[in-house]
Amino acid sequence: MQENEEELREKMKEIATEYLEKGDATGWFDAIYRETEGDSELIPWVDFEPNRFLVEWENENKLEGKGRKALVVGCGLGDEAKFLYERDFDVTAFDISEKAIEIAKRIHKNTDIKFQVADLFNPPKEFRKAFDLVLEVYTIQALPPNLREEVMAKITSFVAENGELIAVQRFRENGIEPEALPWALSPNDLSNFDKNGLTQTGFSEYLGDEEEPIKRFVTVYER
Ligand SMILES: C[S@@+](CC[C@H](N)C(=O)[O-])C[C@H]1O[C@@H](n2cnc3c(N)ncnc32)[C@H](O)[C@@H]1O
Repeated sequence: MQENEEELREKMKEIATEYLEKGDATGWFDAIYRETEGDSELIPWVDFEPNRFLVEWENENKLEGKGRKALVVGCGLGDEAKFLYERDFDVTAFDISEKAIEIAKRIHKNTDIKFQVADLFNPPKEFRKAFDLVLEVYTIQALPPNLREEVMAKITSFVAENGELIAVQRFRENGIEPEALPWALSPNDLSNFDKNGLTQTGFSEYLGDEEEPIKRFVTVYER
């Protein structure tokens, strides 16, 4: 690569802004995966490891799939899908980006994770209430706040009767509106899951290792 990392990150911000200003909330993801070919140094959320807050949470709250069905929403390059696969879940993972799914299939070719291109806003009918576990990492916060209710309702719709949802996101207090991407979630935002028929059974906070540590949470809901 000729360009340095800083320039590429700036370029990515520009790509996202260009799409968002046109009112296209999702087109920039595929554009960025294509621009970088999934290079971990260049896409802020990609590191070819499962999300570290999910891993920390799981160390204390063991996940055992026992063949149950899991769905990973906005799976990107599939690290969390692999994480669930290794815990004996029967995993489906989807993303709106064709490029991300192409790379994920290549990276995880030795698994039978079912990767597919799909749009959260227009999901396959067979996803409805079909999964014992739905996992969502950093997708809600990457979509504009005016779509939040719809995004969370769609994610909720995938959870089977007695199923669970795990969401990993940046945290913000109520009343402090996020100005820019990523649009962190507040307790008020989380109430959208309750409105759609789920009940919160867990909430754990974690601090990142940034110079000014950023708060994340892992929350669990049940239907
Ligand atoms: C910030 S990234 C997080 C990716 C992955 N969960 C991770 O933590 O590495 C958000 C992901 O959501 C996907 N995404 C955004 N809008 C989507 C939609 N409407 N349907 C499905 N996936 C979507 C993007 O393509 C991107 O891979």
